Amino acid sequence: MQTKTYITSPIYYVNDVPHIGHSYTTFLCDMLKKFYQLQGQDVLFTTGTDEHGQKIEQSAQKHNLDPQSYADKISIRFKELWNEFNIDYDIFVRTTDNAHCISVQKAFEIMYAKGDIYKGSYEGHYCISCESFFTQTQLGSNQSCPDCGKATQVVQEESYFFALSKYQERLLAHFANNPSMILPSFYQNDIIKFIKEGLNDLSITRTSFEWGVPLPHNPARKDDKKHVMYVWLDALLSYLSPLGYLSDNAKMPYWENAIHFVGKDILRFHAVYWLAFLMSLELPLPKHIYTHGWWTRDGAKMSKSIGNVINPKEVASAYGVESLRYFLLREMSFGQDGDFSQKIFIERINAELSNDVGNLLNRLIGMSEKYFALEVDSRQVENFFTPELNELRNIITRAQEKMFAMQPHRYIEELWKAFGLGNSVVTKYEPWNLMKSQQTEKAMALLGLIANILAQSSLLLYPILPQSANKIAHALNFKINAQTYKDLIQQKQLLTIFKLNKISPLFPRIESPLPQDSSINKSKIIDSKNTSQVGIIDIKDFSKIDIRVGTIIECVAVEKSEKLLKLMVDIGEDKPRQILSGIAQYYSPQSLINKQVCLIVNLKPAKLMGQISEGMILASKDENGLSLLGVDKTQTNGSKIS
Ligand code: ME8
Ligand code: MG
Repeated sequence: MQTKTYITSPIYYVNDVPHIGHSYTTFLCDMLKKFYQLQGQDVLFTTGTDEHGQKIEQSAQKHNLDPQSYADKISIRFKELWNEFNIDYDIFVRTTDNAHCISVQKAFEIMYAKGDIYKGSYEGHYCISCESFFTQTQLGSNQSCPDCGKATQVVQEESYFFALSKYQERLLAHFANNPSMILPSFYQNDIIKFIKEGLNDLSITRTSFEWGVPLPHNPARKDDKKHVMYVWLDALLSYLSPLGYLSDNAKMPYWENAIHFVGKDILRFHAVYWLAFLMSLELPLPKHIYTHGWWTRDGAKMSKSIGNVINPKEVASAYGVESLRYFLLREMSFGQDGDFSQKIFIERINAELSNDVGNLLNRLIGMSEKYFALEVDSRQVENFFTPELNELRNIITRAQEKMFAMQPHRYIEELWKAFGLGNSVVTKYEPWNLMKSQQTEKAMALLGLIANILAQSSLLLYPILPQSANKIAHALNFKINAQTYKDLIQQKQLLTIFKLNKISPLFPRIESPLPQDSSINKSKIIDSKNTSQVGIIDIKDFSKIDIRVGTIIECVAVEKSEKLLKLMVDIGEDKPRQILSGIAQYYSPQSLINKQVCLIVNLKPAKLMGQISEGMILASKDENGLSLLGVDKTQTNGSKIS
């Protein structure tokens, strides 16, 4: 029997149109689905939209639409985009689907009957943007949301509670027994720490607005008409309702082997609340929660109010869906934050896709046509090129290990070593000289080797770039599927005698960047040209920012981070300030020692990679890189900048 696997993306809020971050998570799901399909598994992949709650109700009001019409309008944008991006989802679930609402009500009733739900009154703070509750002590300065920084509301209302605290020990035990449930594992450590601080019971119904799944009728709860389900209970159950949960249960076997992809912003809802709900419902827990970091734009958070959000559709129509998919999957170190920069985008496409892969295939076709009328015979490859074949097999094995460890960027890195091997054997053995010196058999074997390197690489490339991989396979006259994966990758067979097909260039080089007015460039316009878009401030606003001169006295790289350096900066205080700065790609730690820099010293301390940063070093960035702000002449540490 085929193993059944279930893969889910988050269901995205319909308060906004899809952007690059949504595309990234959805590409990841599609990638893993294809990887497992090649391994012969039966995979079901669900995505969809999250349509209830206060946030959506408010957005609909802003657009002068009733919430359902508003949700319809935005939900279709997600669906259309995934279709345009060739995302092979099996189910697109909407939380306003009737079947879903019924599943939610039935699940509520099960937890209620079990005694895990009780009535009470909620008093605390609520962030509408995150749809999340906070206690006074959890809030940031100015009563703001500790997750997104936006203002919270004080809420006082009757509510049903879920007895989350009851599950604290079981959750901890589960994580202790399953150390790689959440990957990368530092996220699991964060969650364990959060749980150990103590779990409060969770308010799971709201009464102050109407846009949600109503509570099921139950005479035992007389006045439950004004309650609607908390949007996260509703949303999380969208992972089960498409499987027919509590109706026909038709697809529930997939649940035995479930994998969630989430961004770090919503990990807590999945790793704490969701797992406890599942325990209460007596269902198996997901096998993994794969958690990725945050996409930023030239170092800044993407947000509608700054106007630097990248429109994925625009990037795809300019450069192609597969280029976008490649860039996202390759650039982001899974789990870490990643930056979207057009410059790096173009560099990667030209160097890694056009040169490393496209040219290799072109060279193979060109040489094969010239010397052998496109016929390939690989029967002598083992004789002439055993070390190279072994190297190829090692690379392929290592690449697969990376995917099982959910390190897709590393998988791609390994895979590119195979393309590198293909290119290097051309330079090393010079087929044209072999032909000249009448070593025809060896020349044929060399082309056979290159063809087989490309064949195996294209099988592994398929989850990353499905269409391009299929084109390579077509050029090599074979098909990518679970059978060929088994033959060529698992059984280590070679393609022996076949004829190449000529195809048009796979990845044309990008010669010119997108025009200035496209979303991919907009942040630049805002940053450097049209400064007034940031808004005028007066001197009082400026005086709130305390900028000082300081000398960097120590500097080290931050473990597990490609971006961060940890600096100790003397600003004339009793002890130096610890500051984390995302400049590791631009400066070596050693080169910064004794450098005077300018820094904001009254910024609220922030935690990055588990370490406190007590300020921010100022820098400017353009297409040539990043430069730290300093002073013209050496100043006393702590001198104020005004
Ligand atoms: O949270 N970088 O929906 P949402 C990386 N409805 N990923 C990003 C991103 C960014 N800048 N922005 C968004 C919700 N994402 C809930 C989920 S699930 C039961 C309910 C991706 O529209 C990332 O996957 O705010 C993140 O977790 C998700 O979109 C949040 O989407
Ligand atoms: Mg969000």
